[in-house]
Amino acid sequence: MDAANSTDLSDDLDAVLADIWQRLGRAAKDRRAAMHTPVIATITADGIPTQRVMVLRAFDRATATLRFHTDARAAKVDQVGYTGAVSVLAYDPGAKRQFRLTGVARIETATPAADAAWAEATLFAKRCYLADPAPGTVSQSPVSGLPADIEGRKPDDEDEVAAGRDNFALLMVQIDTIEFLHLAHTGHRRARFHQTESQIWQGAWLVP
Ligand SMILES: Cc1cc2nc3c(=O)[nH]c(=O)nc-3n(C[C@H](O)[C@H](O)[C@H](O)COP(=O)(O)O)c2cc1C
Repeated sequence: MDAANSTDLSDDLDAVLADIWQRLGRAAKDRRAAMHTPVIATITADGIPTQRVMVLRAFDRATATLRFHTDARAAKVDQVGYTGAVSVLAYDPGAKRQFRLTGVARIETATPAADAAWAEATLFAKRCYLADPAPGTVSQSPVSGLPADIEGRKPDDEDEVAAGRDNFALLMVQIDTIEFLHLAHTGHRRARFHQTESQIWQGAWLVP
């Protein structure tokens, strides 16, 4: 059986937490992993919950931090600025696992990490950040937002997409709480993990 799709689960909180870390790491690296595109929830300035799908670009186990890429002008960037609190939801139907992650988000635009992520991005990915006017702007007609001279084709070189760097941002989410749910005919399992101030992850079983 493919271990990544295994629905086997040990009734041991440490093993469950290890399983979560392993799956988040794989989700960041594997474009075909179900958890590669989780849903990120924020709260608007009016107090209204809002969500969007984002590509999980990296996961750092040491700091329990998820990395996403976004346009610095996007609404979600303002919303993170308002509260910093975000919820991330990932579901893998093959593994029958739902991860409900809560944490604190920050935006990075001019850090070494942002520079490195930009350097690694493909020309097509960088092209997304050339939208003018900004993403979310009301338009009188259906538009991609990209300049006409680059729409519908691969950029020739870095010079063509360089202007996008100013609009490129990292959305970093440092997880502090994980709620885990595993569905099984033999009995569902639910657990919550929380990182204490001394950086220890404490787990507890919950009734599913
Ligand atoms: C499969 C998929 C992947 C997406 N990946 C990203 C992403 O990595 N970064 C991003 O900013 N938006 C991504 N989006 C678009 C967002 O879901 C959203 O529509 C957009 O970012 C505007 O969100 P906002 O107005 O809340 O900022 C993706 C959408 C889909 C359907």
